[in-house]
Amino acid sequence: MHLPSCCISDSPPYSHMYISQLPIPSEPKRTNSTIPIKNNLISNKKIKTTTTNPSKMASKIAIIITSTRTPRVGPHVATLVHNILKASPSAASSTFSIVDVDTFKLPVFDEPVVPANVPARGSFVHDHSKKWSAEIASHDAYVLIAPEYNYGVAGSTKNAIDYLKNEWDGKPAAIVTYGIQGGKMASEQIKQSLEGMGLRVSATRPQLAFAGGLGPDTFGAVGEGKLGDASNKEWEEKHSEEIVQSYKEILDALANPVEKKE
Ligand SMILES: Cc1cc2nc3c(=O)[nH]c(=O)nc-3n(C[C@H](O)[C@H](O)[C@H](O)COP(=O)(O)O)c2cc1C
Repeated sequence: MHLPSCCISDSPPYSHMYISQLPIPSEPKRTNSTIPIKNNLISNKKIKTTTTNPSKMASKIAIIITSTRTPRVGPHVATLVHNILKASPSAASSTFSIVDVDTFKLPVFDEPVVPANVPARGSFVHDHSKKWSAEIASHDAYVLIAPEYNYGVAGSTKNAIDYLKNEWDGKPAAIVTYGIQGGKMASEQIKQSLEGMGLRVSATRPQLAFAGGLGPDTFGAVGEGKLGDASNKEWEEKHSEEIVQSYKEILDALANPVEKKE
């Protein structure tokens, strides 16, 4: 495949020219109720996986898929991260749930109340907000799985963050981004938002770049929501350690709770 020089330079990492060369996503292949993941099916409800040895003190950690388009690769990235974390010896102290923002069908933020005022000075009026609020409040910490769109955070990721404040506040979060070059700019922006809102973000922020640059894995992810075997293998081999490290930093933060910001 011939790649123009724009596509292999480091600065900027990707040009509009090459984004415009990416294939147009194919028609939606999934229904509202199922998201195919490898040989499994993830239903529209969150999947809850309990590690083998949950104790009374087991922390509840949500692995959050934040891309919502169809098709999308986000669920495959979340599954990979989930599998890596479950296999880690340090996972015994946690229960992991995969939470899919797409299932909450959040419109662009549409609440009359300011999230920072809930619940002390107001309540959400919409069911979608109430459900999202209850979901996020029910976890002790988060691993955000986020793509990079147009050199920054995807709207679906930011919107899901913006809906809430006190449900997130003071809790630890890890950020795992993915993209043609790993999603560095999205990772930075998400970190700034979360820290500004009072979350404690793991210093280790894994950035997963599709194997082969502008090759089959990128085209498969963009156009068909596929996670290529080469990327899967490369991420497992090269990024497992830092994914586990970002989770260990969550555990450290949980062991050292802080007062919520007012
Ligand atoms: C609107 C749009 C903009 C994109 N912009 C970027 C970008 O700036 N950087 C990048 O690394 N990848 C970019 N990509 C490619 C994504 O990394 C790739 O499509 C990935 O599959 C997105 O995650 P998702 O499938 O979970 O939505 C873009 C994709 C889309 C759909």
